[in-house]
Amino acid sequence: MDPVQEGRVVIVGSGLIGCSWAMLFASGGFQVKLYDIVQEQVTKALEKIGKELKELGKTGMLKGTLTADKQLSLISGCTDLKAAVEGAIYLQECTPENLELKKKIFGQLDLIVSNDVILGSSTSCLMPSKLFTGLKHVKQCIVAHPVNPPYYVPLVELVPHPETEPSTVEKTYALMKKIGQSPVRLTKEIDGFALNRLQYAIISEAWRLVGDGVISSDDLDLVMSDGLGMRYAFIGPLETMHLNAEGMLNYCDRYREGMIRVLKTFGPIPDFAGKTEQKINQAMCEKTPADPEHLNARRHWRDECLARLAKLKKEIKSD
Ligand code: NAI
Repeated sequence: MDPVQEGRVVIVGSGLIGCSWAMLFASGGFQVKLYDIVQEQVTKALEKIGKELKELGKTGMLKGTLTADKQLSLISGCTDLKAAVEGAIYLQECTPENLELKKKIFGQLDLIVSNDVILGSSTSCLMPSKLFTGLKHVKQCIVAHPVNPPYYVPLVELVPHPETEPSTVEKTYALMKKIGQSPVRLTKEIDGFALNRLQYAIISEAWRLVGDGVISSDDLDLVMSDGLGMRYAFIGPLETMHLNAEGMLNYCDRYREGMIRVLKTFGPIPDFAGKTEQKINQAMCEKTPADPEHLNARRHWRDECLARLAKLKKEIKSD
């Protein structure tokens, strides 16, 4: 059985992502303080985590080797930020995606944290230079961007501020590995980080193809889910090139001209509005009406698929 770890982790913000991080750190044997501004929210979050851990235990999907009860016992709620951060080794901020709010929170933390704790932010798209510049503890700050749902999709993008200490990156990397996540290091900040830059490139061409009437919305999604996505769950685009010819150099020799020719035909950035928006919205709503009940049912199905895929990937891990 995993020994319970020495260090304590603090989660600031107990919403969707905060709860997931709490469960992930507990699965790795860490004590977790789940902080939020209102006690009611903390209570609700702990109840939700308790239910989810039990369910995961029953279905055999629980991460780590500690029992669901043991993992739950490692997580406690808190509404006193100073008490929460005392003695912590790592803090993961998970408050709403609002620059002013996050800056205020990091400003408060800057006044009360020690020189040892690492301050990570879950932000999806706020640059480290916007979040951390001017903080006394900037060396200890890093963006650690998870992917939804983090319990099943292990990637975490680590994005440093220009003044982040290399040891902060390395320690965060090691911590993420320890809890079973799959961290990647960006050497410098860039808008959209890596994941959203790739995602937006795909969305952009998908939008143009459907907007131009080349393919239906449903078929476009199948190109990913039954085509590219099948292999991308195991190997990325670069390794795909390497394997789809006699190595990378041979791939470039064979396909360089074709790739450049096709890439030159890509249109301008779509406005994601107007007729194409209506057309794609209609197709999506026919499949899943955009009300909470249908959306939640479909999300639940997606999470189940991802959970099974995560299990399969673990079984056949070969790196
Ligand atoms: P959420 O709205 O579910 O949760 C935010 C939580 O922060 C709430 O519990 C709220 O009470 C709490 N909060 C508000 N002000 C606070 C304060 N001053 N101090 C402490 N807690 C406070 O948001 P969600 O979806 O969990 O997102 C959190 C962060 O994670 C955002 O930066 C978001 O961009 C990022 N993220 C979200 C993903 C998603 O798919 N939802 C994926 C990856 C990252």
